[in-house]
Amino acid sequence: MQTITTVAELRRALAEVRSADRRVGLVPTMGYLHDGHLALVAASRTQCDVTVVSIFVNPTQFGPNEDLSTYPRDFLRDQELCRDAGVAIVFAPDIQEIYPAQFETFVEPGELAKPMCGAFRPGHFRGVATVVGKLFNMVQPDVAFFGQKDFQQCAVVRRMAIDLNLPIEIITAQTVREPDGLAMSSRNRYLSEEERRRALAISRGLFAAADKFRSGERDAEQLIAIAREQLNTVDRLQYLELVDADTLKPAESPLRRTAALCAAAYVGSTRLIDNVILPLP
Ligand code: PAJ
Repeated sequence: MQTITTVAELRRALAEVRSADRRVGLVPTMGYLHDGHLALVAASRTQCDVTVVSIFVNPTQFGPNEDLSTYPRDFLRDQELCRDAGVAIVFAPDIQEIYPAQFETFVEPGELAKPMCGAFRPGHFRGVATVVGKLFNMVQPDVAFFGQKDFQQCAVVRRMAIDLNLPIEIITAQTVREPDGLAMSSRNRYLSEEERRRALAISRGLFAAADKFRSGERDAEQLIAIAREQLNTVDRLQYLELVDADTLKPAESPLRRTAALCAAAYVGSTRLIDNVILPLP
């Protein structure tokens, strides 16, 4: 496995491994890797010949009062996990490599970036789309892998790839959870034991609604109410929304198309997100 920090070096390394029939897969991350990230690596390894993992804590997607400076980092451990997982290249640029002086060109997502996390984190998806677009241009992968846990991010990235004619297949992989249901997240490490227990309400609420959906409930208000009942142990529910899975606009009730029930909540000072898909043909 190679660890690379500059774009020039990355292009050289990829020129060596890339040939017409070798597929390159990219897994963009902000590091502090867990089994959710590693599931994306495993998916890439089954579909691609060369897997690149990028590790970059992207400042443009953090708001002024968010956790950029305290975001968990453990680069040595990340490297080991990548090595063990069969990653070919870890791309870990420093900030100047991605945002050199005078940087001023951004990718501006549209309607998909407005509701939910977009409403509570102004500029977040602009930062995500910009860095992902840049990583796509740097690595030029055939396929890129994203986790369903960040459902809105997947939608924004897919749209960007279409709108900007990026010849990259976007694959979304299922959310990986702890045995008790909590969605894995680098931010889970902020949680105390007591907060960790209370954070379970999020997945419990979403699962309760998904169960009700599976047994035939199609009324949007009912499904939201079932999830909300469970969500009483979080400190602040930021949003709990049932949205059309394609447009991210409020789902029409009764549900006739695939919808996503998405939540963001604070437990202590940690902001957590999760979602479940309610599939319809
Ligand atoms: P990060 O939070 O490190 O996540 C990297 C990738 O791992 C994302 O595609 C995310 O959806 C996925 N992921 C995180 N937790 C997961 C879980 N429990 N199960 C499955 N996949 C999971 O998302 C980002 O970084 C950044 O916004 C990034 C796309 C790298 C741009 O900076």
